[in-house]
Amino acid sequence: MSSVGLQRVSGVGASMIDFPRIRDHRGNLTFIESLRHVPFTIRRVYYLYDVPAGEMRGGHAHRALQQCIISASGSFTVELDDGENRESHFLNAPYCGLYVPRMVWRELTNFSSGSICLVLASEEYDESDYFRDYGEFVRAARKERAGSVS
Ligand code: TYD
Repeated sequence: MSSVGLQRVSGVGASMIDFPRIRDHRGNLTFIESLRHVPFTIRRVYYLYDVPAGEMRGGHAHRALQQCIISASGSFTVELDDGENRESHFLNAPYCGLYVPRMVWRELTNFSSGSICLVLASEEYDESDYFRDYGEFVRAARKERAGSVS
């Protein structure tokens, strides 16, 4: 795991990751390997595209899943919230990823026209891993925090 270049950027445990870049006059190339460039085994990849102007995606948190969010094309904003701290990250480079740990609420907004949001996830899709109600998430996050302090 020591090779994962995590740069802690946040109070919610998120990190910005710089992926390798092979620069080439024919066009640049970036590659990502499980446990080497992201701190988890990649079990699923999905992407958001054709997002209409003004739309919001996300609006949930995960009980166990970790993920890395990449702007493969264009730009968008990721709002993160651990139930206590809230912060905003603007993603606009295909060689940078925002690592989002478990138990962090995320909202993706401000998609530029034609943008593509690529997500590397640590788990296969499982609806029971989602918090889709913000109030329920905040209560669970506070309870977990109180438990880890005592
Ligand atoms: P959701 O995770 O809420 O999307 P986002 O957070 O990016 O807005 O998922 C939207 C819908 O797609 C929901 O009905 C579940 C389904 N879905 C899958 O079937 N498989 C997947 O891997 C993902 C991410 C979503």
